[in-house]
Amino acid sequence: MTYLVNGLYIVAFAMFIYGLMGLTGPKTAVRGNLIAAVGMFIAVVATLISVRHTSNWILIIAGLVVGIALGVPPAKFTKMTAMPQLVAAFNGVGGGTVALIAWSEFINSQGFSRFDEEPTVHIVVGSLFAAIIGSVSFWGSLIAFGKLQEILPGRPIGLGKLQQPLNLLLLLGAIAAAVVIGVGATNDGVSQLWMIAVLVLAGVLGLAVVLPIGGADMPVVISLLNALTGLSAAAAGLALNNTAMIVAGMIVGASGTILTNLMAKAMNRSIPAIVAGGFGGGGTAPGAGGDGEAKQAKATSAADAAIQMAYANQVIVVPGYGMAVAQAQHAVKEMAALLEAKGVEVKYAIHPVAGRMPGHMNVLLAEAEVSYDALKEMDDINGEFSRTDVALVIGANDVTNPAAREDSSSPIYGMPVLNVDQAKNVIVLKRSMNSGFAGIDNPLFYADHTSMLFGDAKKSVGAVTEELKAL
Ligand code: TAP
Repeated sequence: MTYLVNGLYIVAFAMFIYGLMGLTGPKTAVRGNLIAAVGMFIAVVATLISVRHTSNWILIIAGLVVGIALGVPPAKFTKMTAMPQLVAAFNGVGGGTVALIAWSEFINSQGFSRFDEEPTVHIVVGSLFAAIIGSVSFWGSLIAFGKLQEILPGRPIGLGKLQQPLNLLLLLGAIAAAVVIGVGATNDGVSQLWMIAVLVLAGVLGLAVVLPIGGADMPVVISLLNALTGLSAAAAGLALNNTAMIVAGMIVGASGTILTNLMAKAMNRSIPAIVAGGFGGGGTAPGAGGDGEAKQAKATSAADAAIQMAYANQVIVVPGYGMAVAQAQHAVKEMAALLEAKGVEVKYAIHPVAGRMPGHMNVLLAEAEVSYDALKEMDDINGEFSRTDVALVIGANDVTNPAAREDSSSPIYGMPVLNVDQAKNVIVLKRSMNSGFAGIDNPLFYADHTSMLFGDAKKSVGAVTEELKAL
């Protein structure tokens, strides 16, 4: 039986890795996801085979039923725009599970001291590591979920200068309680209270680390917490001697770390600076500049926007979070087809952190069957804006903000942005003068060559399309 279980695990791991490879491109992503899911199903079956002599079948089946009932509906019905909070919630559940496994192992072994055999170092250290990181990840993810779901304010909430010393104290406290358990592991009677202290201190640490982080950094934080959950699952796998947990945990840990790095790089933020918190409120900014003289933005109409684009040689569409909110991607595709029929070249400029998750714009445009060749990455398209007649910004804001390039006092200074302001004409589709996720004003909107087409992006694109048809 051990051979069968290990054989099934190896098949499952190969499927995880093959599935992940599929996620690198939109054409193979759905299949990749499916392959990884089947791999996970095989891993679960193998684990059930390995515990076949258990008397807890009713509990196991009840757990599976509850898990499926709670997991499937949100996965099926959550809108694309709410994916980051769904990931935060699922990640939190993973971290919480790992912490509970560590706790239950501790209870089962009566404080690691009454194993049939002496508990090995990897069981004790693995369990305690899993307890700390799992608990940090659970409570941290809950806060991340609350902020993204706007149950909690998106602005940083913290103790200012006292925050870092407090966090350090909590971390040292959790480690100290774990060391007390570790040292006493070979003796009888290590108190449950120490384990509870580990879980509580680590939980408060999770809250204290994520609360001061502003909304704009939250997707990076979720990715970081995801990496931590992976590591804690791997540690719990060591303690349980479960190869599937070790491998799956390491894959999540490694991919989460790579993704965190990529996102931080695209926002020109360092991970320590993100964890230190304080950036990005996610609120709304004053309508017109806020500093000194009120600046004026020019409004335009769908008819004028249509004329400007119909007589252009090249139009670059710059999609952002607002296109996702409005679900305007199909309307955009229809409008672009009309422009192309009039001989206008249409390209799409994709910023790596446009929207609310990596690849957000690619996924939406692929859903509308926009040709992948028309999607241009930031570095490839930035040089083209100065030769472009019209840049059509659809619900994008921060990723077009020239202050990131020019204003060293801007909170997003240094973040690479799309050079939209260099186009000959800019048309911005959004509903108001409100700010984007970083909660800051965008000078692009007040530039002489920029005009604003106010309204829901889908309706505005539809109106422009009707005007184009009439031309
Ligand atoms: P944002 O800067 O968030 O701006 C989106 C704009 O869309 C808003 O200004 C909003 O203005 C507009 N909007 C919302 N609903 C709309 C609708 N129905 N119709 C038309 N417009 C609508 O978006 P972005 O430019 O895509 O930038 C992404 C932000 O998220 C960046 O700050 C980035 O750092 C952050 N972020 C992203 C990621 C990933 S991985 N994508 C990760 C971390 C952080 P109105 O309210 O006036 O309409």
